[in-house]
Amino acid sequence: MAADLQKWRRSLPIFPARGKLLKEIKARPSCVVVGETGSGKTTQIPQYLLESGVGTSGVVAVTQPRRVAAVSVAKRVAEERGCQLGSEVGYAVRFDECYSSETRLKYMTDGMLLREAMSDPTLSRYSTVILDEAHERTVHTDLLFGVVKAAQGKRRGDLRVVVMSATLAAEEFSLYFNQAKVLYVQGRQFPVEVLYAAEPQQDYLHSAVVSILQLHCSMGPGDILVFLTGREEIESVQGVLRECQSMFPSNWQGIHVQPLYAALPSHHQQQVFKPAPQGCRKVILSTNIAETSVTIPGVRCVVDPGLVKARGYSPVVGLDILSVQPISQAQARQRAGRAGREAPGSCYRLYTEHTFSQLRENSEPEILRCTLTSVVLELLAMGMSDLLTFDFMTAPSEEGLVSALEQLCLLGAVEGREGKEGVRLTALGGKMATFPLEPGLSRAILQSSVSVCVSDYVCSCDCCCRREAAAKKWCVWQLCSLWTLSSSLLPPSETRWLLPTRRFHSPHGDHLTLLAVYHAYTAASGKKAWCRENFIHQRNLRAALDVQPQLVELSSRVGVALVSNSDSRTVRRALLDGLHCQTAEHVGGGRYRTLSSRQEVFIHPSSCLFHVRPHPPCVMYSQLVHTSKCYMRNVSVIEADWLAS
Ligand code: CDP
Ligand code: MG
Repeated sequence: MAADLQKWRRSLPIFPARGKLLKEIKARPSCVVVGETGSGKTTQIPQYLLESGVGTSGVVAVTQPRRVAAVSVAKRVAEERGCQLGSEVGYAVRFDECYSSETRLKYMTDGMLLREAMSDPTLSRYSTVILDEAHERTVHTDLLFGVVKAAQGKRRGDLRVVVMSATLAAEEFSLYFNQAKVLYVQGRQFPVEVLYAAEPQQDYLHSAVVSILQLHCSMGPGDILVFLTGREEIESVQGVLRECQSMFPSNWQGIHVQPLYAALPSHHQQQVFKPAPQGCRKVILSTNIAETSVTIPGVRCVVDPGLVKARGYSPVVGLDILSVQPISQAQARQRAGRAGREAPGSCYRLYTEHTFSQLRENSEPEILRCTLTSVVLELLAMGMSDLLTFDFMTAPSEEGLVSALEQLCLLGAVEGREGKEGVRLTALGGKMATFPLEPGLSRAILQSSVSVCVSDYVCSCDCCCRREAAAKKWCVWQLCSLWTLSSSLLPPSETRWLLPTRRFHSPHGDHLTLLAVYHAYTAASGKKAWCRENFIHQRNLRAALDVQPQLVELSSRVGVALVSNSDSRTVRRALLDGLHCQTAEHVGGGRYRTLSSRQEVFIHPSSCLFHVRPHPPCVMYSQLVHTSKCYMRNVSVIEADWLAS
């Protein structure tokens, strides 16, 4: 096995460039590596550096925008090196860490490295920082650009920085890092024939299904990769394909559907790398993950509806919302490229050539699209009190920065003159910055320790936990940890909130429903069977629960006294403390209006309050999602007079 893996490593397109890459990277403080996805940048370059002795003077960090990628690549590289994960090779992602003092190579999310930079701005533990998937321009990667550049300029002249990107637009990176040299890695790319829709499509999901079925009947061997925008879409296309197969088994039996999205349990994700069963064709229904973060072998044909779900700031709502947006031309090319990794392939774009010509050339950096509350809090925590002097690769607007400061003032995180200069982090703000959560949520946690009274929490459902009532429970903590992963907790959407889960429904909303699920789970004796009966992913639930001790530890580190149990009302009031900007009032029918911006919103069908009548007059929510309408997700009932106090 080990020998096979070494042979495999030498067969990667990047291998012939090993010597040259090492020489160039070691000769200078910064450089940019550009190479086609799948050439071996992420898994090989860090290993080359280790093999040449770079790891001895300090850890090599490799940042990834996505948790999934950081964990799966670390596993893969540990395997290639024949070491146990957590020894020479490790990883660190939010709420999940696996490394030790032996670790020389650490894959981590960009957010995690940024968090370390708050307490150690010169990144003294690291000899080399590799900023991978830089073309994605996530907020955290963008901030890290500034952090590593500042560190190099200060006491860390020896810190080596490698920026890795899958798209050719590398000049911007090179310019920013003082004309850093750009190294190109030859990819293995076969020609891909691109076909466009003749006219605009009314319903891209329908077109996607039709394309899959037609391709399956007409194309030669090879797998089909379809880009969809999220889990719900993936599940609905999967459902339609299943129906087609059961109606016409002889035509479509050979289709083996494989979903891929971030919240999918990791053992399911791994399936995607395996070949389809004998005589079958894999149809991979994936979110944007498959665009550059992971490479799936066997794909010959790509179906691209040209859309992506992304976070974006909505000036109307005054908050970030997740919405479906057109991709950029660069993304469309990346997607098409996935079909030509092993042989010539084809790409079906479900939009017209004219639409393609109207797309933006490159995606806009996330920092220009999101609210800056977390960004500003993080910068202040790193000691950058004058935000205007921070060396942004792409600077956000001044109004954006000012409005983030105002938000932070409202949350009690900063004080000082209204404006950009002279603001200070308050003690509360300093604590908020140590939590890897949205500032509102961090405040809810911190505030809960002040306002949650000690009394026994009794769940509104009858099924659980009364016998546990004497035990200590950290309600708000549990809630926040569950919340961070709640989208992955529940089963496929068709069964979600159907009968079995309904027994946990709280009349007060989704947050308390999640708590009820938690209590019932901890009280259940056969946990596996319990999860099966209740359609809950045990692995994800456990992952959510693992978060809790970490939040508890963080809070003791910032000196917050923990207070246990509370009633539903107190829990909701503590949450409202952090979510007071995310509230809405009922205005008639199913319609609500947000209190901050008067935007029309609706309760999401996945919410346990969706069917509740009469409509609760006042609610808070954790997220807005824009699909056919603007929906509130994770909704809880509040009382109007709580808002005044
Ligand atoms: O970073 P880049 O896209 O250039 O390539 P990579 O992620 O280093 O992947 C190189 C090769 O390793 C690809 O052929 C992947 O399919 C394979 N790989 C894998 O088999 N399992 C993983 N978890 C990651 C990569
Ligand atoms: Mg990569």
